[in-house]
Amino acid sequence: MDTSKLPRARVAARRDLTDDLFVLWLDPPFQHDFQPGQYCTVAMEGIARPYSIVSAPHEELIELFIERIPEPDGKLTPLLHGLQVGDELAMAPKIKGHFTLDPSKPNQVLIATVTGIAPFVSYLRDYIARGLSGQRFLAMLGASYQQDLAYGDELQALAAEHDFIDFVPTVSRPDEQPNAGWQGETGRVNKQVGKYLDEYGFSPEKTILYACGNPQMIADVRENFEPLGYDFREEKYW
Ligand SMILES: NC(=O)c1ccc[n+]([C@@H]2O[C@H](COP(=O)([O-])OP(=O)(O)OC[C@H]3O[C@@H](n4cnc5c(N)ncnc54)[C@H](OP(=O)(O)O)[C@@H]3O)[C@@H](O)[C@H]2O)c1
Repeated sequence: MDTSKLPRARVAARRDLTDDLFVLWLDPPFQHDFQPGQYCTVAMEGIARPYSIVSAPHEELIELFIERIPEPDGKLTPLLHGLQVGDELAMAPKIKGHFTLDPSKPNQVLIATVTGIAPFVSYLRDYIARGLSGQRFLAMLGASYQQDLAYGDELQALAAEHDFIDFVPTVSRPDEQPNAGWQGETGRVNKQVGKYLDEYGFSPEKTILYACGNPQMIADVRENFEPLGYDFREEKYW
């Protein structure tokens, strides 16, 4: 992709959650119109990558939640990590993607690891902002360590405020020191899904499962629940 002619977005704000996880708010150089769950493509030094948008369409800034992947695997994220407020980067004007909310079934189970939570935050912010109803959401977020459960506070607050939203965070390395004091669920998020589907009585005919993040987590959810008749959607981050 020739990125030199793309419009430039300005970094309006930045927040660092850990040494490697950070959030950028971008002031887009175009009128944006997208559906929650879609992604935008940003580029620096000729390297372009897609990022799911965390913000909802009604928000002015485009919010991206990014994990710095060290070289040699990571090419763009170390550059993005170096950005400060006021800096610019290229942004493709077309926002794309099919990982959008399907309201055709009442129960929506949103399963994520770490940065995979991005599209689901957008779904929920949008759903609430538009005053929609009729859906029940269960957001499930897994990470090795509690510090990586980004957006956990926001999801907890949404769950406390709206009885149609529940939130289950889980840490997969409960015995390691960074998880000292953790009182929530433990184990990989994919291993919690069956228990919660049973607990909530979410049957295959009334439920859509969405999985986003670690590709093996996604594969495991698909392999376990598609054969039972669950409608399954995925977005891999790798
Ligand atoms: N290229 C990319 O876009 C990209 C994006 C994100 C991460 N990464 C790379 O992935 C590495 C770790 O990233 P991370 O800590 O953010 O995420 P991660 O390794 O994907 O871990 C997040 C969660 O997924 C679990 N998990 C790991 N392997 C799994 C499997 N086979 N099946 C089911 N669940 C699994 C982890 O459990 P455990 O605690 O048991 O491992 C943890 O709970 C880094 O080296 C990073 O470079 C690459």
